[in-house]
Amino acid sequence: MSKGASITRIRGMNDLLPQDTCVWQRVEAAAREVFLRYAYQEIRTPIMERTELFARGIGETTDIVEKEMYTFDDRDGTSLTLRPEGTAGVARAYIENGLHVSDPRARLWYAGPMFRHENVQAGRFRQFHQIGAEAFGMDHPAVDAEMCAMLLDLFASLGLKNLELQINSLGDAEDRRNYRSVLVSYFSGQENRLCENCQRRLKTNPLRVLDCKVEGCSAIARGAPHTFDHLGEQARAHFEGLRECLDAMGIRENAGEVPVPGTFRINPRIVRGLDYYVRTAFEVTAFTGVGSQNAVAGGGRYDQLIAQLGGHPTPAIGFAIGEDRLVSVLNSEQTMEFPGPDFFVVAFGAAGGAGALRLVSELRSAGFDVDLDHRFGSPKSQFKQANKSGAPFAIILGDGELQSGMAAIKPLMTLEKLQAGGVDTELVSRLLDRSKEQPEPFLATENLDGAGVPLLLDPSGQFSVGRDWLIRFCSRLFAG
Ligand code: HAM
Repeated sequence: MSKGASITRIRGMNDLLPQDTCVWQRVEAAAREVFLRYAYQEIRTPIMERTELFARGIGETTDIVEKEMYTFDDRDGTSLTLRPEGTAGVARAYIENGLHVSDPRARLWYAGPMFRHENVQAGRFRQFHQIGAEAFGMDHPAVDAEMCAMLLDLFASLGLKNLELQINSLGDAEDRRNYRSVLVSYFSGQENRLCENCQRRLKTNPLRVLDCKVEGCSAIARGAPHTFDHLGEQARAHFEGLRECLDAMGIRENAGEVPVPGTFRINPRIVRGLDYYVRTAFEVTAFTGVGSQNAVAGGGRYDQLIAQLGGHPTPAIGFAIGEDRLVSVLNSEQTMEFPGPDFFVVAFGAAGGAGALRLVSELRSAGFDVDLDHRFGSPKSQFKQANKSGAPFAIILGDGELQSGMAAIKPLMTLEKLQAGGVDTELVSRLLDRSKEQPEPFLATENLDGAGVPLLLDPSGQFSVGRDWLIRFCSRLFAG
């Protein structure tokens, strides 16, 4: 690269700018709150693991392990991989930290970046973000039902409407094996009509042919036998148990055409792209905002994984939400405004610099969010920044205010917007009305918690408060 040429980001790995992160923070805060309500605790595992963990955990013949992992040798030759998903790492941590002894029914959640070298398109990235949950040590379908409820609760708490939970059963390991051979014989008759990828999948992982997005393949897949018809007795009983538990929680099956928030649909085509699943498998599909990559979350039971990774046999179930996709559904349904600070301090003349910082630190110590323009340019340019900041009020500190020992407060928004921002608009409109009564600025008092506060009301739409009273007055502004 020539000297001075700008360096670009890696394809499929995105920057999240402040207007993006405020939505992401909202999603993460909602997830944290909902998970806590279900008594899940947070776990953080490394972003890199030994390659073998994913090869053994996710399955050698999955797309992820075969062609999507970011794998490289460490300096000592150990093969390492950037995690393509969270479950294998959490399972390793469960085993390695002896949680099967200290917390055998551990219920854990996590959030963070994952890496897959996929074909980049809308909703499909090479660094993407998952919010996931895993529950260990319980094989009762009540846990499966609670997992589904937790997902639905999270979507409801974000006010999302265009999502649908779809569930299926993949059967136990033996049912899966039988179903696999049924599928191989079904597809083999029409092998040359399948895409190149599916012809390969037919040999390595025939279940994956069922959810191929290529139209020719999905047309053939539509006529394929259902997993349901190949479930063993125990897997069938488990699935019936799940339906009963969902019903007990008021989560109804939707068999109609139109998706209904808070319900589930049975979809026998859900096969999932990772090998560790048995019995319950589920996905959340979006109807807006993500284009063809419409799976917003996926999960299921993986009762053999812990033993497969060398741990004590332990049933487990979990899900992961694709946060990038969830955010884009949220953005397609709602607009979110970037929350501004409470005050923007406009300081000029002798009040710039140290004088402004004294006031700002007083306000911040009192718990207010405060911004200022450290360039201390003209009042006009500072007001431009103040309006852009989204703060409901500017606090003005100029030479006049320094002399009078006051600070002027100027509302920057309509009363309606101020009210939406939690401001006591009754107080503000009373002061503004009074200030319009006279042509010149005039001194008045406002009763504040039994004390008369001296104010200078200004017909131009601002009011000044004595510096000694400023913090109390500012608190009062937000106490509506
Ligand atoms: P997964 O279906 O591979 O499952 O991924 C879960 C979700 O991550 C997907 O539904 C999708 O929203 C998102 N996702 C996957 N790949 C990408 C990508 N390249 N770009 C953007 N988003 C993506 C798992 O990862 C399992 N570990 C889930 C699980 C947890 N099963 C049990 N416990």
